[in-house]
Amino acid sequence: MKTMIGTAAAALAVLLPAVADAQPRAVQRNGCTNCHAAQEGGRGSSMSFPELARKYGSLGEDQLVKQLKDGSTNHPPIRGNEAQTREIIQWMLTLK
Ligand code: HEC
Repeated sequence: MKTMIGTAAAALAVLLPAVADAQPRAVQRNGCTNCHAAQEGGRGSSMSFPELARKYGSLGEDQLVKQLKDGSTNHPPIRGNEAQTREIIQWMLTLK
């Protein structure tokens, strides 16, 4: 069983483009990348996730999750469950 999982993971790693960069699937699934590029300097109508991390990272994970869930001045509340939102924020905070 372990080997099967290993093989599947290896196959996935080959299939996924290098740019995926451990980015959670939820980022694309929730449409975040329409406005926020996953990488520095990437295209999007708003700032990239690394830029967001630097500007808003000091608010902390819990506050950011709350802001996205409830909506903020910048955002309508985002769809997707809280676990997914948290996963995205945790990933974002690694980009600082
Ligand atoms: C329609 C465009 C749009 C989409 C889609 C969008 N955002 Fe944003 N987001 C913005 C804008 C504009 C800002 C304000 C950035 C600034 O100028 O400081 C922002 C700010 C943020 C912030 C900073 C904290 C806050 O509440 O303002 C975070 C974190 C964030 N977005 C995450 C996400 C995530 C995660 C998704 C997907 C689930 C997402 N955004 C989808 C436009 C968008």
